[in-house]
Amino acid sequence: MEDIIMSDQKPVILTCAQPTGEMTLGNYIGAVKNWATMQDDNQCYFGIVDMHAITVRRTPAELRKATLSFLAQYLACGLDPEKSALFVQSHVIGHTELAWVLGCMTPLGELQRMTQFKEKASKLGFQVSEDEGSNNDLKFTHESAKPQASVNSGLLYYPVLMAADILLYNADSVPVGEDQRQHLELARDLAERFNNAYSETFMVPDPYIPKVGARVMSLQDPTRKMSKSDENQNGVLYILESPDSLRKKIKSAVTDSGTEIRVADDKPGISNLLTISSALQDIPVQELEERYVGSSYATLKEDVADVVIEALRPVRERYEEIISDKAGLEKILKDGMERAQARAFKVLNKVYRKVGFFERVR
Ligand code: TYM
Repeated sequence: MEDIIMSDQKPVILTCAQPTGEMTLGNYIGAVKNWATMQDDNQCYFGIVDMHAITVRRTPAELRKATLSFLAQYLACGLDPEKSALFVQSHVIGHTELAWVLGCMTPLGELQRMTQFKEKASKLGFQVSEDEGSNNDLKFTHESAKPQASVNSGLLYYPVLMAADILLYNADSVPVGEDQRQHLELARDLAERFNNAYSETFMVPDPYIPKVGARVMSLQDPTRKMSKSDENQNGVLYILESPDSLRKKIKSAVTDSGTEIRVADDKPGISNLLTISSALQDIPVQELEERYVGSSYATLKEDVADVVIEALRPVRERYEEIISDKAGLEKILKDGMERAQARAFKVLNKVYRKVGFFERVR
């Protein structure tokens, strides 16, 4: 076990995001903003998962551009290449290799039952059967909404690759938003399954899900998470968006009936605005509720717009400085790759020995 844990002084943190254009305020509040605070007390690995990104067809030039832009956004949000390894998934040998090994220990039915897979398949016009008695057969009912669409197997395999991302670094903890909880559960199950089959190898990683802001919702439909793939882009805020555009979207956010400003199940719109404000200012929601007694929804929206604009202003300014330095960004990725690969190779070779492969020479 010692050679795997590598006698680290600090706990190891691994987390990643898909390079899909601009980061949303959901990515920022639920994830990246918190990662920045973890860098002093942990050994951090922050990945940009370009392999996950091609489960949806991407234009090659656009994907490369998005990957570099994501790195610049990571840096603008405070991730520091002096302290942490910032790397691109496809650069590091081991992610797909380990995913294959783990996939051979994952029943098909487990993947078919993953919530995100079912959601994505249903967007393509398929329904995945939940019939437990079907012996886990792949049973898609075609709704004929999109006759040309097909569900690629990468989409199904996605959570196994994500488990490999995590286990390849033997991470102690994985900071993510609420939507990744089920994927994290699979990573934990696979770590235990491998350990039971081949003896202690992997840490069983703990999810780290923030108390406030783990699920930032759409401003237009606050029962759904804020997501860049949302058809109604008025509900999605981006960290590089102009102040005018941010304010316009926040002012037209859907609110709830009644006038009270408090967090409640029957007030998803107001709850979301309070959560955003609370997370960005580090002020407890209760304190905000007290502050807004007797205020109008319009006042709350104006204030939230101010808070969001001011929180994102330095991020946008730093991004503008960083993105023009392509050589500097590429150097950071090279350094990050080397640091990530050094750790990944040790874990990968341990896995290779355990399953009966010969060790891979670097
Ligand atoms: P991705 O790229 O969709 O999102 C990156 C991070 O942002 C969080 N997040 C949110 N948090 C709060 N509210 C929201 N509306 C919101 N939207 C996104 C996500 O929870 C995530 O933490 N499968 C992952 C990427 C991945 C990964 C990994 C993560 C691949 N391998 C290994 C951790 C460890 C994803 O698509 O995240």
